[in-house]
Amino acid sequence: MAVVTGASRGLGAGMAERFAAVGVAVGLCARHRPSPPAAAGADVVTAEVDVTDAGAVDRFCAAVVDRFGRIDLWVNNAGLLAPIGPLRDADPGELRANVDANVLGVLYGSAAFARHVRARPGGGTLVNISSGAATTPYAGWAAYCASKAAVDQATRVVAAEEADAGLRAYAVAPGVVDTDMQASIRATPAERFPAVERFHELKRTDAYNSPAWVADHILRLAFDPPADAPTVQRVAAEPRPG
Ligand SMILES: NC(=O)c1ccc[n+]([C@@H]2O[C@H](COP(=O)([O-])OP(=O)(O)OC[C@H]3O[C@@H](n4cnc5c(N)ncnc54)[C@H](OP(=O)(O)O)[C@@H]3O)[C@@H](O)[C@H]2O)c1
Repeated sequence: MAVVTGASRGLGAGMAERFAAVGVAVGLCARHRPSPPAAAGADVVTAEVDVTDAGAVDRFCAAVVDRFGRIDLWVNNAGLLAPIGPLRDADPGELRANVDANVLGVLYGSAAFARHVRARPGGGTLVNISSGAATTPYAGWAAYCASKAAVDQATRVVAAEEADAGLRAYAVAPGVVDTDMQASIRATPAERFPAVERFHELKRTDAYNSPAWVADHILRLAFDPPADAPTVQRVAAEPRPG
């Protein structure tokens, strides 16, 4: 049984589809209620949840446990890129919204899942979706780079705090996935985001990881983990046809 936050579109919706297709029951949330994956049948809970609201995240966790009895895998995927552009020009409200969703949202979800794992027998797997931006300083992405670096470090802390409960925590950079977030990157002029040409080239060459590829990586971490899986890691590039 897996929870995915930010499952109304993009990577989260695609991972939910894959999880359901391989028979994993899913609990899905976002600010807009996610559509149930076709393959999920009755094995799905969907909810409108803003991950910046700790109480709402706790209530969602309780509702999923109520329905399925336990959660084996929790994926904190909800995230924002904006604001894009030099930090000196950034709107303070947009900076706060970024950190609230990308950092506090991940902390709240991680805490809710850690409490759940300690409240029932057996371990569990926490996956926090990170980014190459956690370690590469992209000009124009100050809040995003900072928030994803925070995700990596928070994940290391949770891994240390919860190991005795059998909780394994991973920060997973998914590679580049063609979602609304990528469209907003490509729509940014080079004056505000100097690396934009790299993202146009990715589109021209269709050099993306699919959500299903990322989902399969996460399923292995949860249900067939290699003994030496690092806490902070990146999904390998998906082989291209031809
Ligand atoms: N796409 C990439 O190439 C890429 C690369 C590296 C990392 N990532 C990471 O992958 C994750 C998903 O990105 P994406 O590309 O799929 O982005 P996206 O297309 O913009 O989708 C973001 C998802 O997060 C949800 N969300 C945003 N703020 C939320 C909030 N406060 N509460 C609940 N849900 C919220 C959105 O739903 P609502 O609007 O309905 O709330 C949506 O479902 C993010 O953490 C992103 O940083 C993406």
